[in-house]
Amino acid sequence: MNYRRLLVITSIVTLCALSPSAHGLSGPAVEQVKRDLVGQTFVDHDRGQSFEIVAVGGLLIKDRLTDSDAKTEDLHVSVDVTVRFAGYPYTARGVLAVHYKHFDQGWRIQSVSAERGFTYTSPTASVAPSDGAADSYKTTCAPCHGPDGSGQTGLGKVLKLRDLRSADVQQQSDSEIQTIISDGKGKMPSYGAKMNAADISALVAFVRRLAKH
Ligand code: HEC
Repeated sequence: MNYRRLLVITSIVTLCALSPSAHGLSGPAVEQVKRDLVGQTFVDHDRGQSFEIVAVGGLLIKDRLTDSDAKTEDLHVSVDVTVRFAGYPYTARGVLAVHYKHFDQGWRIQSVSAERGFTYTSPTASVAPSDGAADSYKTTCAPCHGPDGSGQTGLGKVLKLRDLRSADVQQQSDSEIQTIISDGKGKMPSYGAKMNAADISALVAFVRRLAKH
């Protein structure tokens, strides 16, 4: 064993571990993230469904990206959480993207979303959580826009709907589409009073999914 080399490596590792963040402000620590996540709702775009976290088991911070003035931080955390869906508790596992912002009182979570591939298991419910956005699209939006988004329905033709999968529609940003769904536009009804923001953002993700099929 090359003792000198080992010493150099050990010193570098120690220095890195000890050096304070560039601005003297370090982000939320594991214990805080665990506490803060309880009660948060995250959207799983794969399922078009939002879930409320009722408990956090294991949590590992995979990476954190602090902005240049150390006022916001984006974390990717591997978690084991308990969520509630249709009255049943589910153990859910995967990676969450957590957006933190720093206020005078400290770090506060601004938003949480699930990365692809979140899994859900339940000791009591035999069914996996349904695809909420697909269901609500089918009952609420498809009568006009068609099950595939093409707009080739009786109503859709009368209203001269653009194909939701087309580049013209898809080039709009998530927030533009979110606004159309929540505020309505022209002859399109508004849904902001009937759906919460998480459900509408799941529908935005569903409109994106339509284009990929
Ligand atoms: C009563 C028929 C009707 C229903 C129901 C309806 N829409 Fe629409 N939608 C429209 C019309 C009409 C427009 C075009 C508005 C305009 O550009 O004047 C539109 C536009 C849109 C657009 C923008 C498309 C573009 O041309 O840029 C999106 C996205 C959209 N609807 C999504 C939805 C979703 C999601 C739902 C279900 C929550 C829904 N719509 C329900 C009639 C409907």
